[in-house]
Amino acid sequence: MNWRVLSFGYRSHNLQIYNYYNYQSSIKKSMTDKEREILELIEGKYQGMGQNPEVHLEGLLWSKPITYWDYIQTDALLNLQVQRTTLPDEMIFIMYHQINELLFKMIRWEIEQVAKHPELTVEFFASRLGRISRYFDMLAQSFTIMGDGMEIEQYMKFRNTLTPASGFQSAQYRIIEFCSTELINLIDYRFRATIDRDTPYEHAFNHLYWQAAGKDHETGTTSTLLQNFEKKYKDEFLRVMEEYNTTNLWSTYKKLPKEQREDLDLINAMRHYDHTVNVLWVMAHYDAAGKYLNSGEQAVEATGGSDWQRYMHPRYQRRIFFPDLWTAEELENWGVDNLEGHKVLTEELDNVGNV
Ligand code: HEM
Repeated sequence: MNWRVLSFGYRSHNLQIYNYYNYQSSIKKSMTDKEREILELIEGKYQGMGQNPEVHLEGLLWSKPITYWDYIQTDALLNLQVQRTTLPDEMIFIMYHQINELLFKMIRWEIEQVAKHPELTVEFFASRLGRISRYFDMLAQSFTIMGDGMEIEQYMKFRNTLTPASGFQSAQYRIIEFCSTELINLIDYRFRATIDRDTPYEHAFNHLYWQAAGKDHETGTTSTLLQNFEKKYKDEFLRVMEEYNTTNLWSTYKKLPKEQREDLDLINAMRHYDHTVNVLWVMAHYDAAGKYLNSGEQAVEATGGSDWQRYMHPRYQRRIFFPDLWTAEELENWGVDNLEGHKVLTEELDNVGNV
């Protein structure tokens, strides 16, 4: 070992550090207050993580400047549209479904922030509910892209390649339901009396309203549509059901202080969301389905195989996220006289909002 070299090396290292800090402090001196403040914050951030701030600062030197296409991932996004047929209108069908899935993701993003907020305020709750509603309004209002936007002849051809799949198998749609309300409000009406908070999740799952699209509760047989769906998502659904059991939008609303729960604007915003999801969107979808499936001399079977005219209509389905925010009369006429709109409350009603 050459001690002279080593000690020289050691001294030169110290000199380098000394120079570096001198250099750094002279740079810091020539910086504006704002620049110095940012640099110190960056140093603090990385030191707090046990990381060397210099390495990260140097990384900035080599990082690629961002472009629109890298950031938005346009190439990846625009390569996800793959037709199964040669019919051009199939492209509309695929892309509109994908747009729906993206908006579903935006809705889940907002609900999650409400559910996980460490110190939720009514302002935050109301503002996120507003965002969620705007996204669903967009979905309900744009459904004519399906209803009016494809040639019936083309749809009737390419749909043959889609059996036994259906939009019914959109997992995000189901997750939004679990995140929006308490499980009891998603249970098939016929079984509600037999299910309560102590019912195991699996039992509740087997009696969700949407099982009616493909399950014969008497014989226990299920359609391929349902079998495939459950095989892929049942575990995730059970996990989400549990996760949102007490943090869904309705449970969260119920935890707000009484005077905030009774705020008319908030009640109207909740009713708006409920009505848009469970009546307006459902009817826009139902009308579009009818246009195609009832277009011939004889109605054709849905690709998913459900008794869709009955299954999908809000009058029968009666899916309502926030039942306590509707009057007894409104509940009774759900899916009958609220197909086009609902009453915006201008005064407190006795039996609404007393949760
Ligand atoms: C022409 C277009 C469409 C037709 C004809 C149609 C038809 C149907 C039918 C018949 C069902 C009942 C299940 C079955 O037996 O298949 C259904 C369910 C469903 N579809 Fe569509 N659909 C269309 C577009 C869409 C779009 C764009 C979405 C958006 C993701 C979608 C999402 C759903 C969902 C979530 C369900 C389940 C609804 C529920 O359980 O209440 N559908 N669809």
